[in-house]
Amino acid sequence: MTVEQARLPIGLFDSGVGGLTVLKALRQRMPCEDMLYLGDTARLPYGTKSSETIARYALQATSKLVERRIKLLVVACNTATSVALDTLREAYPGIPVIGVVEPGAQASCRASLQGRIAVIATESTIRGCAYHKAIHRLRPQAHIVGQACPLFVPLAEEGWVDGPIAESIAARYLDPIFKPASGSDRVETPDCLVLGCTHFPLLARAIRNVIGPDVVIVDSAATTAFAVHQELDARGLIHPQHGDDCGTTRFLTTDDVPRFARTGGLFLGTPIAPDEVELVDL
Ligand code: DGL
Repeated sequence: MTVEQARLPIGLFDSGVGGLTVLKALRQRMPCEDMLYLGDTARLPYGTKSSETIARYALQATSKLVERRIKLLVVACNTATSVALDTLREAYPGIPVIGVVEPGAQASCRASLQGRIAVIATESTIRGCAYHKAIHRLRPQAHIVGQACPLFVPLAEEGWVDGPIAESIAARYLDPIFKPASGSDRVETPDCLVLGCTHFPLLARAIRNVIGPDVVIVDSAATTAFAVHQELDARGLIHPQHGDDCGTTRFLTTDDVPRFARTGGLFLGTPIAPDEVELVDL
C-alpha cells in the first residue's frame, strides 16, 4: 500500500444521519483519519424497502464514495449491511468493506452474561435475521429475540429522541419483550439489548427508561471503530499524520442540506455547518 492511499479518507454511508453515530466512534478512535460521509436522505428509510432496492441503493452510494476516492468503506447502516455486504465486497474487491452487524453481534456476545439477547432493528434487518445468524455463529446457545422498531428511525431523524412520545413508542415495542404479561411462558427476559440500527443510539435514554436499569444496552459503533482500526493497521493504511484532532470530515447528502446539517449535528454531538455539506445525486 502506498502512502498516497493511506492519506485517502475512510468512506461511510447510511440512509440518513444515523451512520453519524458510527462516524463519531471512528473519530474518537482515529482522530487523524479523514472521513467522507454520505447520507442518502432523499431515499430514507431503507429499512422498509425490499432487499433488491436496498442493494441497488447501497451500490449507488458506494459508487459515489469510490468515485471520490476512499481507502476503506464502512457500511454505517445495519439494513444495508444485512442485505448488501457481500454484494459490495464483490463489486469492489480492491476496497476493504466493513459492515456494522458483525461488530454489533460481537459486542452483544461480550456483554450478555446469560446469553439472552434482544435485537431491535429495522424491518428489513429483522426479516433477514442478520443478527440472529451473526450472534449464533459466535454463541450457538444464545437465545435471541428480534423486534422491528421502524418508527424509531423518523423519531431520531426528527430529533424527538426522549420525552413521553418517544417513551410510549418504545414501550409499545419493548414491553412485550421485557415486561411479559404474568402467566406468559416467557419468564426469562433478555439481559442484553442490541441497538441494531445506527439511528437507535440517539433514543438510548428513552429505551433505558422503558426497559429499566438492569439490561445492558449495546450498539455497534465502538466495535466497528475497533474493527476499522485493525483493518487499516493490517493493510498499512493508517493515516501518517499525527496530532490530537487533525482529521477532516466532509459530508455528502442526497437532499436538503440545511436539514442534514441540523439533524446531523445532533447525531454527531458537534455542530455541522451547511457549507461542510455537499448535495449530490446518485
Ligand atoms: N440507520 C439504518 C440502519 O442502521 C437504517 C434506517 C433506515 O433507513 O430505515 O439500519
